[in-house]
Amino acid sequence: MTTLVGRQSSSIEYLKKLLELEYDAIGAYKFAISKVEDKIYKKQMLSFQNDHERHIGDLSQILATYNTGVKCPDMKEWLEKMIISMGDTLQGDKGILRAMSYVEKDTNTAYERYTAYRDMEEVVMKTLSQCLVDERKHKDWFDANLNPC
Ligand SMILES: [Fe+2]
Ligand SMILES: [Fe+2]
Repeated sequence: MTTLVGRQSSSIEYLKKLLELEYDAIGAYKFAISKVEDKIYKKQMLSFQNDHERHIGDLSQILATYNTGVKCPDMKEWLEKMIISMGDTLQGDKGILRAMSYVEKDTNTAYERYTAYRDMEEVVMKTLSQCLVDERKHKDWFDANLNPC
């Protein structure tokens, strides 16, 4: 199912959902990194996880200017949720890459929708467009490694 992030009626609610999605993505990365065997894959995924941590910092800063935020989730809870939802798809390293490509499909869709929120300040739009560049890079990497030419 496609993500619902970006279907919220207000930009603040959208930003909150984006932040939740980022925490979700980090939970998925931590789990995937703990399972993947190929060292090159592991290193690359750690670097993508760092991008997501930066995005969390950016979004938290934006939300702080609105005097709001989201409750930082318990990572153990996120990991357990991920293990349950990703368990069946994780068969070997390629299975992990496939599951992560799905995670990144959602991050791409969610960030692409930022243009619908025209009331956001330009500086916020710019930050979101930079995050989208990272998310596209992540998805492309997973897809390229799943389907090498
Ligand atoms: Fe991200
Ligand atoms: Fe990503």
